[in-house]
Amino acid sequence: MHCTRRVTEDIVWVGADNRRLALFEAVYSVPKGMSYNSYLILDEKCTLIDTADRSVTDTFLENIESTLNGRSLDYLVIQHMEPDHSATLFDVLSRYPECTVVCNQKTYAMIKAFKNKDVNAHIVKEGDTLSLGKHTLSFIFAPMVHWPEVMVSYDSASGTLFSADAFGLFGALGGALFADEVNFEKDHLDEARRYYCNIVGKYGVQVNNLLKKASSLNIKNICPLHGFVWRENIEYIVNKYLLWANYQPEERGVMIAYASVYGNTEKVANYLACRLFDRGIRCSLYDTSVTEASHIVADSFKYSHLVFASVTYNGGAFVCMENLLSDIVCHGVKGKKIALIENGSWAASAAKRMRDILAPLKDCEYLCDDISFKSAMHTDSDEKIEKLVDLIASTV
Ligand code: FEO
Repeated sequence: MHCTRRVTEDIVWVGADNRRLALFEAVYSVPKGMSYNSYLILDEKCTLIDTADRSVTDTFLENIESTLNGRSLDYLVIQHMEPDHSATLFDVLSRYPECTVVCNQKTYAMIKAFKNKDVNAHIVKEGDTLSLGKHTLSFIFAPMVHWPEVMVSYDSASGTLFSADAFGLFGALGGALFADEVNFEKDHLDEARRYYCNIVGKYGVQVNNLLKKASSLNIKNICPLHGFVWRENIEYIVNKYLLWANYQPEERGVMIAYASVYGNTEKVANYLACRLFDRGIRCSLYDTSVTEASHIVADSFKYSHLVFASVTYNGGAFVCMENLLSDIVCHGVKGKKIALIENGSWAASAAKRMRDILAPLKDCEYLCDDISFKSAMHTDSDEKIEKLVDLIASTV
């Protein structure tokens, strides 16, 4: 049984959802599932844009077969070789052996590297075009968005940008195909941000390059490889990408992440969050032992100010905090105002360790000297925290 939707009269979504996936890329939880999008252009030359993840093979192949309705597949465009989109490459080619793979030179080399097989390939360069009949595809290279060989494809006939991983999100489609069919901001923006920051957050320069190239196109539809198709209010998601790619906060406020073993450091973090809300300053507050780092990384992009509070552990910061900070550094967060709080009963050293881990961050400023507690905060008010609240209030 097939399950497809039309993007336009002759561009058909033939992808599929996986709602049983525990971890995307073996690290990111996806409680709302994951969509693996693929698009079939029905023209004189029928053309498939990317394949799909191994987990959805059956549905994907049924969708192609029913959409082609007896026609042959002429071209298969491989926009990048990450296996969540290329795993079923040879499943498709075995059914449509006359099909020509359209890819760039780097992708062609990766096909051999991953699959140890050759394909009948049409190699394209930046700016090359391919006529399908009514539709003409042009190819725009977007290295590191999110692998080095990535290219996106633009169909001038329909104004459709097939954007590869760009503009994707975590979550299954659940029958909706277009972003305007759901309450995107309420129900999906957080997962779009988490996807962006964790998947391509490090590559803001490269995302900016792609946005610049795309700005000269007349784009009516954006078709990503994960998540919803954009056909309305495209500037909304482009503006989000401009913020994220330029490491600009979406919200003047504070992301507080703490690591606490027996709750004393947690009390300090709670106290700080309460005092900030007293002053009308928005915060998000995370326990690093509970919340997966990807969510905290995403909020580190979202907010202007970051506060990390950790108990001392093995002469450094608590293991969950160390992992989180390393993850934040790996994803290239920059331009933040930061404060550090440590707790330690005999040799407090978490703050120094946190500073050391965060040292590679660019364009960040520490709001004050590191704040240190000995075992617990005992008073109902703490001068050091009040001073930090004042500093945040004056800079937020
Ligand atoms: Fe969704 Fe870079 O693969």
